[in-house]
Amino acid sequence: MRDLIIAGNWKMNKTFSETEEFLLELTKRTDDKQLNDVKIIICPPSLYFEICSDFTQDREISIGAQNVSEHEFGAYTGEISAPMLSSMDLDNCIVGHSERRKYFAESDKIVNSKIKSLLEYDIDPIVCIGESLSQREKGITKDVIQQQLSGAFKDIDLNSNIIIAYEPIWAIGTGKTASSKQAQEIHKFIRNWIKKEYSNKIAEKVHILYGGSMKPHNIEELIKQPDIDGGLIGGASLVTEKFNKMIDVAISMRK
Ligand code: PGA
Repeated sequence: MRDLIIAGNWKMNKTFSETEEFLLELTKRTDDKQLNDVKIIICPPSLYFEICSDFTQDREISIGAQNVSEHEFGAYTGEISAPMLSSMDLDNCIVGHSERRKYFAESDKIVNSKIKSLLEYDIDPIVCIGESLSQREKGITKDVIQQQLSGAFKDIDLNSNIIIAYEPIWAIGTGKTASSKQAQEIHKFIRNWIKKEYSNKIAEKVHILYGGSMKPHNIEELIKQPDIDGGLIGGASLVTEKFNKMIDVAISMRK
């Protein structure tokens, strides 16, 4: 059985002192928990990697970046590269988030280069894919997903450490969650694509997370689905009580 992953994507939120306060609260709450195969990942703004690592180094909490450059070093003002993330001992990095695709023109080709760069430095990518509302209404959700998968993983030897996050764009930050049935249908489609393109064995190992208004009240129904292996959580991951509650739900389902 795959373990469950509860990942928080903070996006561009929290000051330094708010970060410190959050970490203090969260670790106080998680320190005496038996995580039972539940993996926690926090993806803060890159300025806070060091303080996050200080808090999490002897704990079972991983730190991830929200973005990485496709280049290794050089004159790319403002960018951070995979060797830099690796030198900070980061475990994961989000790529292809719909906000980056929309506001920073991150194409499938760029996503593909970023994944390759991360894998070279042993950082596990969290690859986001998902359709817009108009694509869903046109009935082309699966075509869009298939195209994103083929583009993102072109010439990549998909291994079990890659995490895929299905995030329907219409559900991100809107309070409109995909129903568990809608989400499961796409998660199963993604797993079948991996089976077809790679192997059954890899497909059974890859984690496919759901993202898009996942909250304490709907997480159970979603992660109960056979192909949903946890969540990539935005808004609700910023509030300790909510994030902690979601971790508790995941633990209770793994007991
Ligand atoms: P949300 O964001 O939980 O606030 O909808 C999810 C995400 O964008 O990763």
